[in-house]
Amino acid sequence: MRTVVVDHPLVAHMLTVMRRAETPTPEFRRATDELVLLLAYEATRGLRVRSVPIVTPVAPATGVELDAPAPIVVPILRAGLGMLDGMLRLLPGAEVGFLGMARDESTLIATTYADRIPHDLTGRQAFIVDPMLATGGTLVAAIDLLLQRGARDITAVCLLAAPEGLRHLEQALAGRDAEVTLVTASIDERLNEHGYIVPGLGDAGDRLYGLIS
Ligand code: URA
Repeated sequence: MRTVVVDHPLVAHMLTVMRRAETPTPEFRRATDELVLLLAYEATRGLRVRSVPIVTPVAPATGVELDAPAPIVVPILRAGLGMLDGMLRLLPGAEVGFLGMARDESTLIATTYADRIPHDLTGRQAFIVDPMLATGGTLVAAIDLLLQRGARDITAVCLLAAPEGLRHLEQALAGRDAEVTLVTASIDERLNEHGYIVPGLGDAGDRLYGLIS
């Protein structure tokens, strides 16, 4: 597994806006969108392209265009939805598959409640978007599902990661026949006893969409 921590002043700035407890939801959403755009730029570095002959106003030349099949973006519901628009702005031709996963707050174990992912992902580049890599349980389960469907080139885009989640991911993926990349804005200090990232930004879903009671 390859981990990319995007070190850029704009990334650090947007992340700081999101971390502040007093940032209201509209501003948090806007900051998420802008941060995702910056992370997506890094996350899409390995997109497959093909050469195409073109003619400029001056001369024939060789250009590149994105290769088929189209990549698939997989937001993990619910918080991953807040990252979808930013990804699609860079990848307007991508397909979108939805994965509903929730973690039990006492056991921290992820269960799948919605699966709208194509059955055959052979040859597809897949981008999972989930704001918080905390224990890693959700992301490992999502990657497992994409691997079972035939994907072999998977990039996870997470706004923040905890060292515990990163270790879990590395252990779970060791020896797998797959290219997995994690792109994140920060690896924070640790998880607290409730499974929240410290210092983190709180509950990403609640901050994007409000509290579920
Ligand atoms: N999920 C969140 O939304 N925030 C955390 O800190 C951990 C998991």
